[in-house]
Amino acid sequence: MNDFAQLYGRPFEGEWAAPGRVNLIGEHTDYNLGFVLPIALPQTVRAQAARSGDGQLRLWSAQGRELVALRVDDLAPGSVPGWAGYPAGVVWALREAGHPVGGADLRLDSDVPSGAGLSSSAALECVVAAAYNDLYGLGLSAAELAVLAQRAENAFVGVPCGIMDQMASMCCRPGAALFLDSRDLTMRHVPVDLAGAGLALLVLDTRVKHDLGDGAYAALRAGCERAAALLGLPALRSLQPSGLADALAQLPPELVPLVRHVVTENARVEAAVALLDAGDPAALGPILTAGHASLRDDYRVSCPETDLAVEAAVAAGAHGARMTGGGFGGSVIALVDADAAGHVAAEVTAAFRAAGYAEPRTLTAVPAEGARRLR
Ligand code: GLA
Repeated sequence: MNDFAQLYGRPFEGEWAAPGRVNLIGEHTDYNLGFVLPIALPQTVRAQAARSGDGQLRLWSAQGRELVALRVDDLAPGSVPGWAGYPAGVVWALREAGHPVGGADLRLDSDVPSGAGLSSSAALECVVAAAYNDLYGLGLSAAELAVLAQRAENAFVGVPCGIMDQMASMCCRPGAALFLDSRDLTMRHVPVDLAGAGLALLVLDTRVKHDLGDGAYAALRAGCERAAALLGLPALRSLQPSGLADALAQLPPELVPLVRHVVTENARVEAAVALLDAGDPAALGPILTAGHASLRDDYRVSCPETDLAVEAAVAAGAHGARMTGGGFGGSVIALVDADAAGHVAAEVTAAFRAAGYAEPRTLTAVPAEGARRLR
Protein backbone atom coordinates (compact mmCIF):
# COMPACT_ATOMS: atom_id res chain seq x y z
CA MET A 1 0.00 0.00 0.00
CA ASN A 2 2.74 2.48 -0.63
CA ASP A 3 3.34 3.20 -4.27
CA PHE A 4 2.50 6.69 -5.49
CA ALA A 5 -0.82 5.79 -7.10
CA GLN A 6 -1.94 3.86 -4.04
CA LEU A 7 -0.96 6.71 -1.74
CA TYR A 8 -2.44 9.56 -3.73
CA GLY A 9 -4.92 8.00 -6.16
CA ARG A 10 -3.22 9.34 -9.30
CA PRO A 11 0.10 9.00 -11.15
CA PHE A 12 3.15 11.13 -10.38
CA GLU A 13 4.29 13.82 -12.83
CA GLY A 14 7.99 13.09 -12.46
CA GLU A 15 10.71 11.54 -10.34
CA TRP A 16 13.89 13.24 -9.13
CA ALA A 17 17.03 12.17 -7.22
CA ALA A 18 19.54 14.11 -5.11
CA PRO A 19 22.66 12.53 -3.58
CA GLY A 20 24.36 12.54 -0.22
CA ARG A 21 28.01 13.60 -0.15
CA VAL A 22 31.37 13.09 1.42
CA ASN A 23 33.75 15.99 1.67
CA LEU A 24 37.32 15.14 0.61
CA ILE A 25 38.81 18.11 2.47
CA GLY A 26 37.71 21.59 3.62
CA GLU A 27 35.78 21.11 6.86
CA HIS A 28 34.17 24.00 8.74
CA THR A 29 35.47 26.33 6.07
CA ASP A 30 32.18 26.98 4.22
CA TYR A 31 30.60 29.31 6.78
CA ASN A 32 33.95 31.08 6.96
CA LEU A 33 33.51 31.73 3.21
CA GLY A 34 36.42 29.44 2.34
CA PHE A 35 37.02 26.41 0.14
CA VAL A 36 35.49 22.93 0.15
CA LEU A 37 36.02 19.85 -2.02
CA PRO A 38 33.10 17.41 -1.75
CA ILE A 39 32.01 14.57 -4.02
CA ALA A 40 28.45 13.33 -4.42
CA LEU A 41 27.68 9.75 -3.39
CA PRO A 42 25.80 7.22 -5.51
CA GLN A 43 23.31 7.04 -2.62
CA THR A 44 20.35 9.37 -3.16
CA VAL A 45 17.03 10.57 -1.87
CA ARG A 46 14.35 10.06 -4.54
CA ALA A 47 11.08 11.92 -4.86
CA GLN A 48 8.11 11.04 -6.99
CA ALA A 49 5.94 14.12 -7.13
CA ALA A 50 2.85 15.75 -8.58
CA ARG A 51 1.42 19.22 -8.02
CA SER A 52 -1.69 19.33 -5.84
CA GLY A 53 -4.46 21.79 -6.56
CA ASP A 54 -5.63 22.15 -2.97
CA GLY A 55 -2.79 24.04 -1.31
CA GLN A 56 -1.67 20.95 0.60
CA LEU A 57 1.86 19.59 0.81
CA ARG A 58 1.64 15.85 1.41
CA LEU A 59 4.85 14.02 2.22
CA TRP A 60 5.22 10.29 2.49
CA SER A 61 8.54 8.75 3.52
CA ALA A 62 9.33 5.13 2.74
CA GLN A 63 11.75 5.11 5.70
CA GLY A 64 9.40 6.61 8.29
CA ARG A 65 6.36 4.95 6.64
CA GLU A 66 4.52 8.06 7.60
CA LEU A 67 2.28 10.52 5.73
CA VAL A 68 2.52 14.16 6.79
CA ALA A 69 -0.01 16.66 5.39
CA LEU A 70 0.61 20.41 5.71
CA ARG A 71 -1.16 23.49 4.42
CA VAL A 72 1.36 25.44 2.36
CA ASP A 73 -0.13 28.76 3.52
CA ASP A 74 0.48 27.79 7.15
CA LEU A 75 4.19 26.94 6.81
CA ALA A 76 6.23 28.94 9.31
CA PRO A 77 9.76 28.52 10.70
CA GLY A 78 9.90 26.00 13.51
CA SER A 79 6.35 24.78 12.88
CA VAL A 80 7.15 21.36 11.36
CA PRO A 81 9.05 18.93 13.60
CA GLY A 82 11.15 15.99 12.43
CA TRP A 83 12.13 14.94 8.92
CA ALA A 84 9.19 16.72 7.25
CA GLY A 85 10.69 20.07 8.26
CA TYR A 86 13.33 19.79 5.52
CA PRO A 87 10.99 19.41 2.54
CA ALA A 88 8.45 21.79 4.06
CA GLY A 89 11.25 24.32 4.63
CA VAL A 90 12.16 24.23 0.95
CA VAL A 91 8.58 25.02 -0.07
CA TRP A 92 8.53 27.81 2.51
CA ALA A 93 11.86 29.21 1.25
CA LEU A 94 10.67 29.18 -2.37
CA ARG A 95 7.54 31.11 -1.42
CA GLU A 96 9.50 33.51 0.79
CA ALA A 97 11.73 34.24 -2.20
CA GLY A 98 8.63 35.18 -4.18
CA HIS A 99 8.17 32.04 -6.28
CA PRO A 100 4.49 31.33 -6.78
CA VAL A 101 4.45 27.66 -5.81
CA GLY A 102 1.57 25.74 -4.29
CA GLY A 103 1.19 22.27 -2.87
CA ALA A 104 2.41 18.90 -4.05
CA ASP A 105 2.14 15.23 -3.24
CA LEU A 106 5.52 13.61 -2.70
CA ARG A 107 6.64 10.05 -2.17
CA LEU A 108 10.17 10.08 -0.74
CA ASP A 109 12.61 7.20 -0.55
CA SER A 110 16.27 7.20 0.44
CA ASP A 111 19.34 5.02 0.64
CA VAL A 112 21.53 7.78 2.12
CA PRO A 113 22.31 6.64 5.68
CA SER A 114 20.86 9.23 8.07
CA GLY A 115 22.78 10.68 11.00
CA ALA A 116 26.02 9.42 9.43
CA GLY A 117 27.41 12.80 8.40
CA LEU A 118 26.63 12.03 4.75
CA SER A 119 24.15 14.89 4.23
CA SER A 120 20.92 12.98 4.09
CA SER A 121 19.07 16.16 5.09
CA ALA A 122 20.65 18.24 2.33
CA ALA A 123 19.77 15.49 -0.16
CA LEU A 124 16.16 15.60 1.08
CA GLU A 125 16.04 19.37 0.71
CA CYS A 126 17.67 19.32 -2.71
CA VAL A 127 15.44 16.64 -4.20
CA VAL A 128 12.39 18.68 -3.21
CA ALA A 129 13.96 21.86 -4.60
CA ALA A 130 14.72 20.12 -7.91
CA ALA A 131 11.22 18.65 -8.13
CA TYR A 132 9.51 21.97 -7.40
CA ASN A 133 11.77 23.78 -9.88
CA ASP A 134 10.56 21.50 -12.67
CA LEU A 135 6.96 21.02 -11.56
CA TYR A 136 6.35 24.74 -11.24
CA GLY A 137 8.62 25.75 -14.16
CA LEU A 138 10.74 28.08 -12.01
CA GLY A 139 13.86 27.93 -14.17
CA LEU A 140 16.21 28.33 -11.20
CA SER A 141 19.85 27.22 -11.51
CA ALA A 142 21.31 24.40 -9.43
CA ALA A 143 23.24 26.93 -7.32
CA GLU A 144 20.13 29.05 -6.76
CA LEU A 145 18.26 25.96 -5.60
CA ALA A 146 21.13 25.07 -3.26
CA VAL A 147 20.97 28.51 -1.66
CA LEU A 148 17.21 28.14 -1.14
CA ALA A 149 17.72 24.69 0.36
CA GLN A 150 20.31 26.11 2.76
CA ARG A 151 17.87 28.87 3.71
CA ALA A 152 15.28 26.20 4.46
CA GLU A 153 17.70 24.52 6.84
CA ASN A 154 18.95 27.76 8.44
CA ALA A 155 15.70 29.66 8.83
CA PHE A 156 12.95 27.01 8.82
CA VAL A 157 14.58 24.01 10.52
CA GLY A 158 16.93 26.19 12.56
CA VAL A 159 20.32 24.59 11.84
CA PRO A 160 22.98 27.23 11.03
CA CYS A 161 24.79 25.08 8.42
CA GLY A 162 26.98 26.46 5.65
CA ILE A 163 26.43 25.99 1.91
CA MET A 164 28.65 22.97 1.19
CA ASP A 165 26.17 20.11 1.50
CA GLN A 166 23.44 21.69 -0.61
CA MET A 167 25.90 22.78 -3.30
CA ALA A 168 27.43 19.29 -3.37
CA SER A 169 24.04 17.62 -3.68
CA MET A 170 22.87 20.02 -6.43
CA CYS A 171 26.05 20.62 -8.44
CA CYS A 172 28.43 17.63 -8.31
CA ARG A 173 29.31 15.70 -11.44
CA PRO A 174 30.28 12.04 -11.89
CA GLY A 175 34.01 11.39 -11.71
CA ALA A 176 34.77 14.79 -10.21
CA ALA A 177 35.03 16.65 -6.93
CA LEU A 178 33.41 20.06 -6.58
CA PHE A 179 36.02 22.72 -5.79
CA LEU A 180 33.76 25.40 -4.39
CA ASP A 181 34.57 28.88 -3.23
CA SER A 182 31.92 29.49 -0.56
CA ARG A 183 32.37 33.27 -0.79
CA ASP A 184 30.90 33.71 -4.25
CA LEU A 185 29.88 30.14 -5.13
CA THR A 186 32.28 29.94 -8.05
CA MET A 187 33.08 26.30 -8.67
CA ARG A 188 35.22 23.99 -10.71
CA HIS A 189 34.69 20.29 -11.31
CA VAL A 190 38.05 18.67 -10.61
CA PRO A 191 38.44 15.16 -12.11
CA VAL A 192 39.07 12.45 -9.49
CA ASP A 193 40.01 9.21 -11.19
CA LEU A 194 40.44 6.95 -8.19
CA ALA A 195 39.93 3.67 -10.06
CA GLY A 196 42.41 4.72 -12.74
CA ALA A 197 45.02 5.25 -10.01
CA GLY A 198 44.23 1.87 -8.41
CA LEU A 199 42.59 3.58 -5.44
CA ALA A 200 39.29 3.45 -3.59
CA LEU A 201 37.65 5.76 -1.10
CA LEU A 202 36.21 3.90 1.86
CA VAL A 203 33.49 5.48 3.95
CA LEU A 204 33.36 4.16 7.50
CA ASP A 205 30.18 5.19 9.31
CA THR A 206 31.07 5.07 12.99
CA ARG A 207 27.34 4.89 13.85
CA VAL A 208 27.86 7.65 16.38
CA LYS A 209 24.90 9.84 15.45
CA HIS A 210 25.94 13.35 14.68
CA ASP A 211 23.51 16.16 15.31
CA LEU A 212 24.26 19.68 14.15
CA GLY A 213 21.20 21.02 15.90
CA ASP A 214 22.51 20.60 19.42
CA GLY A 215 24.32 23.92 19.69
CA ALA A 216 27.96 22.83 19.39
CA TYR A 217 28.08 23.60 15.66
CA ALA A 218 26.45 26.99 16.20
CA ALA A 219 28.94 27.79 18.97
CA LEU A 220 31.90 27.00 16.71
CA ARG A 221 30.47 29.12 13.94
CA ALA A 222 29.91 32.00 16.35
CA GLY A 223 33.52 31.65 17.59
CA CYS A 224 34.82 31.98 14.04
CA GLU A 225 32.65 35.01 13.39
CA ARG A 226 33.83 36.63 16.62
CA ALA A 227 37.47 36.02 15.63
CA ALA A 228 36.92 37.55 12.20
CA ALA A 229 35.29 40.60 13.77
CA LEU A 230 38.16 41.02 16.26
CA LEU A 231 40.62 40.86 13.37
CA GLY A 232 38.60 43.36 11.35
CA LEU A 233 37.97 40.84 8.57
CA PRO A 234 34.69 40.12 6.74
CA ALA A 235 35.32 36.39 7.29
CA LEU A 236 38.23 34.13 8.29
CA ARG A 237 38.60 33.26 4.63
CA SER A 238 40.36 36.60 4.17
CA LEU A 239 43.21 35.56 6.46
CA GLN A 240 46.18 34.13 4.54
CA PRO A 241 48.64 31.60 6.00
CA SER A 242 51.36 34.29 5.85
CA GLY A 243 49.32 36.46 8.24
CA LEU A 244 48.33 33.68 10.59
CA ALA A 245 50.98 34.09 13.30
CA ASP A 246 50.31 37.82 13.64
CA ALA A 247 46.57 37.28 13.75
CA LEU A 248 46.79 34.54 16.40
CA ALA A 249 48.82 36.85 18.62
CA GLN A 250 45.89 39.30 18.69
CA LEU A 251 43.20 36.79 19.66
CA PRO A 252 41.98 35.50 23.02
CA PRO A 253 43.35 31.99 23.64
CA GLU A 254 40.04 30.19 23.11
CA LEU A 255 39.78 31.46 19.53
CA VAL A 256 43.36 30.62 18.51
CA PRO A 257 42.83 26.96 17.61
CA LEU A 258 39.63 27.69 15.68
CA VAL A 259 41.35 30.25 13.49
CA ARG A 260 44.41 28.05 13.02
CA HIS A 261 42.18 25.22 11.80
CA VAL A 262 40.25 27.35 9.32
CA VAL A 263 43.32 28.97 7.77
CA THR A 264 45.33 25.75 7.47
CA GLU A 265 42.26 23.85 6.20
CA ASN A 266 41.71 26.32 3.36
CA ALA A 267 45.36 25.81 2.40
CA ARG A 268 44.84 22.03 2.50
CA VAL A 269 41.96 22.31 0.03
CA GLU A 270 44.12 24.28 -2.39
CA ALA A 271 46.96 21.76 -2.01
CA ALA A 272 44.55 18.86 -2.62
CA VAL A 273 43.18 20.47 -5.77
CA ALA A 274 46.72 20.99 -7.08
CA LEU A 275 47.48 17.29 -6.55
CA LEU A 276 44.29 16.22 -8.29
CA ASP A 277 45.05 18.57 -11.18
CA ALA A 278 48.48 16.94 -11.38
CA GLY A 279 46.81 13.52 -11.63
CA ASP A 280 48.20 12.25 -8.32
CA PRO A 281 45.22 11.37 -6.09
CA ALA A 282 47.26 9.00 -3.89
CA ALA A 283 49.22 12.03 -2.67
CA LEU A 284 46.05 13.35 -1.03
CA GLY A 285 46.57 10.85 1.78
CA PRO A 286 48.81 12.90 4.09
CA ILE A 287 46.60 15.97 3.54
CA LEU A 288 43.56 14.02 4.69
CA THR A 289 45.33 12.78 7.81
CA ALA A 290 46.66 16.25 8.62
CA GLY A 291 43.13 17.60 8.20
CA HIS A 292 41.88 15.08 10.72
CA ALA A 293 44.55 16.06 13.25
CA SER A 294 43.49 19.68 12.89
CA LEU A 295 39.81 18.80 13.45
CA ARG A 296 40.75 16.65 16.44
CA ASP A 297 43.29 18.91 18.15
CA ASP A 298 42.30 22.44 17.08
CA TYR A 299 38.65 22.44 16.06
CA ARG A 300 37.82 19.61 18.50
CA VAL A 301 34.91 18.12 16.59
CA SER A 302 36.16 14.55 16.41
CA CYS A 303 35.24 11.84 18.91
CA PRO A 304 36.98 8.65 20.13
CA GLU A 305 35.27 6.56 17.45
CA THR A 306 36.28 8.78 14.51
CA ASP A 307 39.82 9.07 15.91
CA LEU A 308 40.08 5.29 16.23
CA ALA A 309 38.76 4.74 12.69
CA VAL A 310 41.39 7.12 11.30
CA GLU A 311 44.21 5.56 13.33
CA ALA A 312 43.23 2.01 12.49
CA ALA A 313 42.78 2.78 8.78
CA VAL A 314 46.19 4.43 8.52
CA ALA A 315 47.82 1.63 10.53
CA ALA A 316 46.25 -0.87 8.10
CA GLY A 317 47.87 0.87 5.13
CA ALA A 318 45.45 3.61 4.08
CA HIS A 319 47.19 6.52 2.30
CA GLY A 320 45.28 8.84 4.61
CA ALA A 321 42.01 9.18 6.50
CA ARG A 322 39.87 11.81 8.16
CA MET A 323 36.45 12.41 9.58
CA THR A 324 34.14 14.02 7.03
CA GLY A 325 31.26 16.42 7.61
CA GLY A 326 30.39 18.40 10.70
CA GLY A 327 31.86 15.95 13.20
CA PHE A 328 30.66 14.90 16.68
CA GLY A 329 30.43 11.39 15.22
CA GLY A 330 29.42 10.52 11.69
CA SER A 331 31.73 9.04 9.07
CA VAL A 332 35.42 8.72 8.32
CA ILE A 333 36.83 8.52 4.80
CA ALA A 334 39.95 6.49 4.07
CA LEU A 335 41.89 6.64 0.82
CA VAL A 336 43.14 3.12 0.16
CA ASP A 337 44.64 1.00 -2.58
CA ALA A 338 41.63 -0.63 -4.22
CA ASP A 339 42.96 -4.12 -3.56
CA ALA A 340 43.47 -3.29 0.15
CA ALA A 341 39.96 -1.94 0.76
CA GLY A 342 38.67 -5.16 2.31
CA HIS A 343 41.70 -5.45 4.56
CA VAL A 344 41.47 -1.87 5.81
CA ALA A 345 37.74 -2.18 6.47
CA ALA A 346 38.32 -5.44 8.37
CA GLU A 347 41.10 -3.89 10.48
CA VAL A 348 38.95 -0.91 11.42
CA THR A 349 36.08 -3.24 12.29
CA ALA A 350 38.41 -5.34 14.45
CA ALA A 351 39.70 -2.23 16.23
CA PHE A 352 36.11 -1.15 16.94
CA ARG A 353 35.26 -4.57 18.29
CA ALA A 354 38.32 -4.54 20.54
CA ALA A 355 37.32 -1.11 21.86
CA GLY A 356 33.77 -2.28 22.55
CA TYR A 357 32.25 0.02 19.91
CA ALA A 358 29.40 -0.90 17.57
CA GLU A 359 30.69 -2.17 14.23
CA PRO A 360 31.11 0.54 11.63
CA ARG A 361 29.07 0.37 8.44
CA THR A 362 31.28 0.48 5.35
CA LEU A 363 30.61 1.72 1.86
CA THR A 364 32.76 2.71 -1.07
CA ALA A 365 32.39 6.24 -2.40
CA VAL A 366 32.47 6.74 -6.15
CA PRO A 367 32.17 10.39 -7.26
CA ALA A 368 28.60 10.52 -8.56
CA GLU A 369 26.13 12.90 -10.12
CA GLY A 370 24.28 15.76 -8.43
CA ALA A 371 20.52 16.29 -8.35
CA ARG A 372 18.68 15.30 -11.51
CA ARG A 373 15.35 14.31 -12.96
CA LEU A 374 15.04 10.54 -13.39
CA ARG A 375 11.80 10.47 -15.40
C1 GLA B 1 27.97 20.25 8.05
C2 GLA B 1 27.36 21.52 7.48
C3 GLA B 1 28.23 22.08 6.37
C4 GLA B 1 29.69 22.23 6.83
C5 GLA B 1 30.17 20.94 7.49
C6 GLA B 1 31.54 21.09 8.09
O1 GLA B 1 27.97 19.23 7.09
O2 GLA B 1 26.07 21.26 6.98
O3 GLA B 1 27.72 23.32 5.93
O4 GLA B 1 29.85 23.32 7.66
O5 GLA B 1 29.29 20.51 8.50
O6 GLA B 1 32.46 21.28 7.09
